[in-house]
Amino acid sequence: MKINEPIIALDFPNWADAQAFLDRFSQDAHLFVKVGMELFYAAGSGILQELKRRGCKVFLDLKLHDIPNTVEASARVLAKLGADMITIHAAGGSKMIAAARRGLDEGATGEPPLLLAVTELTSTSATQLHEELMVNQDMTAAVLHLAQLAKANGADGAICSAFEADTIRQQLGDDFLRVTPGIRPVGGRKGDQQRVATPGTAHAMGSSALVVGRPITQTADPVTAYVQIKKAWEENHD
Ligand code: C5P
Repeated sequence: MKINEPIIALDFPNWADAQAFLDRFSQDAHLFVKVGMELFYAAGSGILQELKRRGCKVFLDLKLHDIPNTVEASARVLAKLGADMITIHAAGGSKMIAAARRGLDEGATGEPPLLLAVTELTSTSATQLHEELMVNQDMTAAVLHLAQLAKANGADGAICSAFEADTIRQQLGDDFLRVTPGIRPVGGRKGDQQRVATPGTAHAMGSSALVVGRPITQTADPVTAYVQIKKAWEENHD
């Protein structure tokens, strides 16, 4: 299963900046955008309706990670906001993942949002995984383990890097989504990301959807950057 539009991370400090960015795209661009903590905390939940009015699909990336009861209640609230996808941290464990699933199913008025579980952040290196998090497995095994836990407890997909996408697809099936941030066009700056791939490589490596922030939002010509990334993704080469 593939999501054709690269998901644009709207990592802006306020709604005015996000709107100015969106205004550069044509009305019928059918954008899929990601609202993360920065914009959500600054602008509030009302922006989801604004984004829907603009015809955007919305990925609400708040990465819930708390005790099961709190996550279930929060997911119930988030389900009512009309997002198409939401995130939790798989590291919260089986009961927390199942609680998120219940909350979404209870709270949704129509189709519940897809539930995606963050495995290991794309900013985490293998060294950090071993030395800071004390995980003795290699990155792919650690990510696959969390993705399996997520699937077994009702998640629809995992957030992972492109490098783990194919293993997850082979082990858990194509219907279980592999949504991959850490995307950089050829020659793009990594910034704080570690496990980065180009859009075309990510496609070839088994990603179901791209999440792209700074390579689009921080360029002089975001529309051209978006079109080029979309083209590389669709055509499977950079
Ligand atoms: O600017 P950049 O393309 O690095 O943005 C990537 C986006 O994806 C950010 O909004 C970040 O919060 C998000 N993300 C990530 N790694 C994850 C999950 C989400 O980079 N594992």
